[in-house]
Amino acid sequence: MSQFNEYAKWRYATKKFDASKKVSAEDLATLKEAIRLSASSFGLQLYKVIVVENPELRTKLQEASWGQSQITEASHLFVFANQTTAGDADVDAYLDNATATRNLPQGALAGFGDYMKGALGNMPEDVKPTWTSKQTYIALGNLLNAAAELKIDVTPMEGFVPAKYNELLGLDKLNLNAALVATVGYRHAEDDTQHYAKVRKSNEDLFITI
Ligand SMILES: Cc1cc2nc3c(=O)[nH]c(=O)nc-3n(C[C@H](O)[C@H](O)[C@H](O)COP(=O)(O)O)c2cc1C
Repeated sequence: MSQFNEYAKWRYATKKFDASKKVSAEDLATLKEAIRLSASSFGLQLYKVIVVENPELRTKLQEASWGQSQITEASHLFVFANQTTAGDADVDAYLDNATATRNLPQGALAGFGDYMKGALGNMPEDVKPTWTSKQTYIALGNLLNAAAELKIDVTPMEGFVPAKYNELLGLDKLNLNAALVATVGYRHAEDDTQHYAKVRKSNEDLFITI
């Protein structure tokens, strides 16, 4: 089995974290880099990731997360917040970044920029938040797997009330919306879930080969 799949088998959605164990600054930087390197449509990365360390805020967010204990007991709480809008300014910011990063002459990417602006211009406004929120799931997947390599546990979560998160974290004002939550830390020795066998569809059920 590949090393990657070994890590994938090791990880599980942790139900109880050991609140006494903290993720080091170095490992935290590695996890952030895994998120930063995530692929996204057109490379636009139309989301932000809020790392919540503040304990009082975490207690309030727990209430907005069906009371799930991971929110307060994990070492760190990551909130993936997708942009609620997307348009020309996002494309221009990308073009500036790409032009500088690749040391290109000004305007070298204008054609690609116009193509992206056209695509975003044709996208109905109410579809944009759905599209941007999808990108956060790719980043979440990378976080899960990068953490597993470091023997750090992550629980992906949709079990929270986005409107309450948006209010508590001031996301509305930033045109952001809480799409996904991930609690990051170390499994508690008493979390029985770690001993459960993985439940997954069989290859026959999951794959169609044509
Ligand atoms: C998008 C998403 C949302 C999830 N939401 C929650 C959640 O709110 N609380 C929780 O304890 N687990 C949550 N899970 C964990 C899943 O139940 C779990 O990943 C799945 O049962 C497979 O088990 P495993 O991850 O332990 O292998 C979520 C998983 C995903 C991918």
